[in-house]
Amino acid sequence: MLTLDFHPTGRHFLQIPGPSPVPDRILRAMSLPTIDHRGPEFGALGLRVLKGIQQIFQTRHPVVIYPASGTGAWEAALVNTLSPGDHVLMYETGHFAALWDKMATRLGLKVEFLGLPGTEGWRKGVQAHLIEERLKADTGHAIKAVCVVHNETSTGATSSILAVRRAIDAARHPALLLVDSISGLASAEYKHDEWGVDVTISGSQKGLMLPPGISFNALSPKALAASQTAKLPRAFWAWDEIVEMNKTGYWPYTPNTNLLYALTEACDMLLDPHHGGLEGTFARHRRWGAGVRAGVKAWGLEIQCNEVASQSPVLTGVITPEGVDADALRKLIYERFDLSLGTGLGKVKGRMFRIGHLGDCNDLTLMAALAGCEMGMKLMGIKLAGSGVAAAMEYFAGHPAPVALQKAA
Ligand SMILES: Cc1ncc(COP(=O)(O)O)c(C=O)c1O
Repeated sequence: MLTLDFHPTGRHFLQIPGPSPVPDRILRAMSLPTIDHRGPEFGALGLRVLKGIQQIFQTRHPVVIYPASGTGAWEAALVNTLSPGDHVLMYETGHFAALWDKMATRLGLKVEFLGLPGTEGWRKGVQAHLIEERLKADTGHAIKAVCVVHNETSTGATSSILAVRRAIDAARHPALLLVDSISGLASAEYKHDEWGVDVTISGSQKGLMLPPGISFNALSPKALAASQTAKLPRAFWAWDEIVEMNKTGYWPYTPNTNLLYALTEACDMLLDPHHGGLEGTFARHRRWGAGVRAGVKAWGLEIQCNEVASQSPVLTGVITPEGVDADALRKLIYERFDLSLGTGLGKVKGRMFRIGHLGDCNDLTLMAALAGCEMGMKLMGIKLAGSGVAAAMEYFAGHPAPVALQKAA
């Protein structure tokens, strides 16, 4: 018998930027009995969940759901739209952009990785003017796709996808726009259709508040047309059969039944007008981000994303003072206060930690997370400029939640 829910301190604080804490309502939905995935009840469930997820992506076009993690959905987006040797333009915002580059290269694509020198690009969102300049120079239209990460989970920078769309349009370039919104969807504003995205990739374990295990490709008509001629080999990931069968609410293979129950519940929660719908969801995350950043500033520490307009509503990356190993600090905080914080990844390993403010989260869980950080940093002997806890309390108390709490009926 696993004892992962046994914590001597009562509960564990999971404040990493995904997997995020799963609400009890979703855990209860997942515990319903698994049903026949070819039976009559399943078709109705399938149609309902596919309609719900379209609303979350803000699209009228098909959304493909895979029983895979986000990495699988990255591969699906590439193999359905591109051919061996195709030239793709990717932008380096951080570790996840770099991993996507690695995957595209392994698939036999010719990747051009654009970005700012050194680690400077890891402190900002996508600089859309660089994409525009590069596409203008590509007069022969060799570049077949532009790939960007919406919310770079390794740094806490959210990029303007609208600015990237405008850059492609300003260059009058026909490249497809592929966007990783694995950690942005359902937390940071996202409009697949309005922003002219061709494939949006996402995953279950972040803003959707589900456990890991399912992932998504939201499509555009242009992406579907590209998939007719794309030559990269694909079988399991192929959109055509899935999109066709989804019209009746079924899948060509065994779908992840209980995670689809969970997704149905998540869509109901996120779209609930009593909680402000999607706009309310985005406003809640913006406010949490602002409260946490107020705390970090009061400590006198630097935020990894130093471009204010791109600071993420989903997570905040905190740079530890020179000489302090961020992972040793995380270990101490975990052991003493039962709080998990995100590690620094890739180029910033050991230099920063990440506080997630997404999923089943509220002002008081964030206050607990900040208190754990503050106590841990003091125990490590870090000299803080002031109390981040006090600053965040002041922020949250002074900025009421956008949608008032409802009393239980
Ligand atoms: C922005 C981003 N892209 C891709 C991934 C990879 O997704 P997965 O770990 O679900 O395969 C992650 C995971 O954290 C992510 O945050």
